[in-house]
Amino acid sequence: MFPIGCTFALSWILLAGLTSGEQSAGASIWLAPSNPTVAVFANQSYFVSCKAPGAEKIVWTKVGEGDITPTSGKIHVEEKEDGMDLVFETIRKKNQGDYSCRAIIRGQEVEKKITLSVFKPLSFGETASVQYATEGLDFTIRCDVGGDPVVTTTWKVRGRSLRPSPRHKVIDNNLSIKEVTLDDGGLYVCRATQSNPMIADFREMNITLKIQHEPRWFKDHTKEAYGFIGGTVNMTCSAVAEPGADFIWIKDNRTLHPSDDVQIFNSDHHSSLQLYIYDESVFGDYECRATNMLGTMARVIVLEQATKPAAPTFKIKITHPDSFVLEIEDSDVVSDRGQDAAARNPMDVTGYVVQFKQPSLEWSRAQEKEFERMPSQPYRVTGMQQDTSYEVRVAARTAAGTGDFTDVQVEKTKKIVAAAVPVLNSAPAQHLVLCHSLLTLLIAALASANIYI
Ligand SMILES: *[C@@H]1O[C@H](CO)[C@@H](O)[C@H](O)[C@H]1NC(C)=O
Ligand SMILES: *[C@@H]1O[C@H](CO)[C@@H](O)[C@H](O)[C@H]1NC(C)=O
Ligand SMILES: *[C@@H]1O[C@H](CO)[C@@H](O)[C@H](O)[C@H]1NC(C)=O
Ligand SMILES: *[C@@H]1O[C@H](CO)[C@@H](O)[C@H](O)[C@H]1NC(C)=O
Ligand SMILES: *[C@@H]1O[C@H](CO)[C@@H](O)[C@H](O)[C@H]1NC(C)=O
Repeated sequence: MFPIGCTFALSWILLAGLTSGEQSAGASIWLAPSNPTVAVFANQSYFVSCKAPGAEKIVWTKVGEGDITPTSGKIHVEEKEDGMDLVFETIRKKNQGDYSCRAIIRGQEVEKKITLSVFKPLSFGETASVQYATEGLDFTIRCDVGGDPVVTTTWKVRGRSLRPSPRHKVIDNNLSIKEVTLDDGGLYVCRATQSNPMIADFREMNITLKIQHEPRWFKDHTKEAYGFIGGTVNMTCSAVAEPGADFIWIKDNRTLHPSDDVQIFNSDHHSSLQLYIYDESVFGDYECRATNMLGTMARVIVLEQATKPAAPTFKIKITHPDSFVLEIEDSDVVSDRGQDAAARNPMDVTGYVVQFKQPSLEWSRAQEKEFERMPSQPYRVTGMQQDTSYEVRVAARTAAGTGDFTDVQVEKTKKIVAAAVPVLNSAPAQHLVLCHSLLTLLIAALASANIYI
């Protein structure tokens, strides 16, 4: 647009000069704007005045097509006091060409001409802002850009100019990519430019390229899961897919559906199967199938029977106003040793679950803390109130789940003592606050006393 504005401005300046010059020289015809060439975008409006004071006859002609006589409509003429205007209400490409204004003044014919050039602004038409390619196949990202004069396009990929490469080629403004990989996905920008001596313009369009591919497993896919009768187990199957996969779980040739013992949690890339192990029939092979429009992948997770973790032993070693420090030891006893199947998989303890509550509460409302197993390290349970009795119990965890809890032990937290010397870990801050407040009061009292003295 800028160059057109520029053209107009220039025209008026020239006109100002010409008007005074020609009139004083007795010249009798001129155009306003006076520029002999005009650039206009299609669908804009435009008009040019032909000035010929005192003319006996004045007429606008499209060169090669004839006089323009209508006084209304898309292209028309309007008679003015000292001349005639040529008006384009909506300029079309076909209106491009030479126009001439001829007048007869005192029996003499005089003429002025303009050349009108019509351009089409840039537009991206129907170009889709999200386009889908399939992994492994060639793909052409469409950029249906139109405009006149002819446009040139350049491409940007994820914010950088497209580097020349044997895999990328720009054909007819579109970007062609050979053997698309997942890495080709992302934001592309199609940048179209048009320029000639009269106009210069550019526009950009964002195009997101999504790469569709069949489901593919995450590398750390688990092949085994462990559980014990009476316990709950989670098996998770993860697959990246575009579009996202639908998951199903199959056991003994039957698809599993949610029930009292079965829960399934699905998202685009994950499926978790949560089972309550009510008896031995629950153990076995579970097939997870991930499917999208491009394919299906299946994996088997074997659910094996393991020993239920035996209850550990523990001691409350130290009490603080807000916490207990526990010492936990694994039990030597393997609870279900008697059963053959269970004894196959005695598992390493990986951690502990500590529950605590005030005696008046139900265990279902107990607070819980989980620890990684760290042999010979103390386990500190925090979040208690001072000078309060707590019931504490501990269970061991293995890959098969959480085992039975120990018997309950009861212990009381320490009382915060308002001593001047901080002795307890968590107490100093409170003591300092207290001292500070007292001092403040003292100073205030002294100050007010001073005022009255
Ligand atoms: C001009 O307007 C017509 C009708 O309103 C439309 O169909 C056409 O696409 C427009 N052309 C440009 C270049 O904007
Ligand atoms: C490339 O672009 C042109 C016009 O922009 C379009 O007509 C053509 O169909 C496109 N080619 C492909 C393969 O998409
Ligand atoms: C293209 O996307 C970028 C980044 O998301 C944004 O800043 C820019 O405004 C977008 N351009 C257009 C023309 O939508
Ligand atoms: C299984 O997963 C569910 C949902 O993610 C979770 O609430 C539950 O605690 C998990 N159970 C076990 C035994 O890990
Ligand atoms: C599942 O079906 C296949 C073929 O239909 C059969 O060979 C196989 O024995 C079945 N497996 C089970 C566990 O039923």
